Amino acid sequence: MEFIPPEINAYAEAHTTAEPELLNRINRETHLEVLYPRMLSGHLQGRLLAMLARMINPAYIVEVGTYTGYSALCLAEGLRPGGKLITIEKNPELEKRVRSYLNASTLGKMVELRIGEAQEIIPTLPDGIDLAFIDADKVSYLKYYELLLDKLQPGGYLLADNVLWSGKVTDENARDADTVALQKFNNFVQADKRVENVLLPVRDGLMMMRKR
Ligand SMILES: C[S@@+](CC[C@H](N)C(=O)[O-])C[C@H]1O[C@@H](n2cnc3c(N)ncnc32)[C@H](O)[C@@H]1O
Repeated sequence: MEFIPPEINAYAEAHTTAEPELLNRINRETHLEVLYPRMLSGHLQGRLLAMLARMINPAYIVEVGTYTGYSALCLAEGLRPGGKLITIEKNPELEKRVRSYLNASTLGKMVELRIGEAQEIIPTLPDGIDLAFIDADKVSYLKYYELLLDKLQPGGYLLADNVLWSGKVTDENARDADTVALQKFNNFVQADKRVENVLLPVRDGLMMMRKR
């Protein structure tokens, strides 16, 4: 769900730098050929991720939840020369497609795709993460947060997608596992003195956190 009225969203997209050609192709092909295309970040959020990454100019990014590689390539735009982005995806059926997109991108060589369970892979990664993006199964957000915060540089940034969950997080009587997990995640981050945070109501809600 979009929280911004459709006409405002369309105006914002019309006044946002266009998607680079490859990302536009990934967006179109994902919608035509892959299940659950709404999972892809899309034009506006993609340009926001690219802009944030360019502002942070990280040497080392970790992404949890590759899907078809759209957000990975947006974030990679901000990498320093010689930098690296590690992106984790548990669905092996997506691997061939993601690798073909990485091969087609000038940034692909800076992106390392790891296929497997994020909770098993993150602990094996090097410390010193400058920027991390959490965008996988919602029930594990708190676990990913702890694992990644541990490996984040002081002053490093964490982003978490879908934290408004179509607005369901505002329902105090919600019982479904994803909504309850996201409510717990948002409340935990809000109370956590280790980070400063801003919940940006863009697309499905983006929690932005900075490690103190
Ligand atoms: C919302 S999509 C990611 C979208 C992508 N970041 C983008 O913006 O284009 C979530 C992805 O996380 C993956 N995923 C779910 N649970 C996972 C887990 N436990 N470990 C690794 N990946 C997981 C799913 O297979 C799916 O491809």
